[in-house]
Amino acid sequence: MRSVLLLSLTLATAAQAADEAAAELWTAKCKSCHGPDGRAQTQMGKKESIVDISQPAWQQAQTDADIREVIADGSPRNKKMKAYKDKLTPEQIDSLVTYIRTLKKG
Ligand code: HEC
Repeated sequence: MRSVLLLSLTLATAAQAADEAAAELWTAKCKSCHGPDGRAQTQMGKKESIVDISQPAWQQAQTDADIREVIADGSPRNKKMKAYKDKLTPEQIDSLVTYIRTLKKG
């Protein structure tokens, strides 16, 4: 019983650390265009008409695989959205997909 508790505590802490790392990645590499909240109310966001990825409709239309692909390979429609597969590990890209899901508006 005690070890189960310890294990779940350890897992929770690990998950939290991963969340924080993803939030830091977002701030360092994505926020300048997509904004802190994904709404893209930034100079680049407005200029390039970047979609508000916090919108429930956008969130619903995208599978995790879709989101992973655009981060890894970039957007075929807009070169400003670069491919990150050489800059980020697959684990980091996965953590950003999870992070993007947390940006969904209430
Ligand atoms: C230099 C500006 C810039 C940066 C930095 C940037 N993006 Fe983007 N991103 C864009 C643009 C522009 C688009 C719109 C592409 C399109 O219309 O197809 C986009 C689109 C996206 C989309 C798909 C939205 C859609 O059109 O469905 C996702 C997901 C995304 N970015 C995630 C990220 C993540 C994660 C990072 C950080 C690792 C990041 N972006 C960094 C400019 C940027």
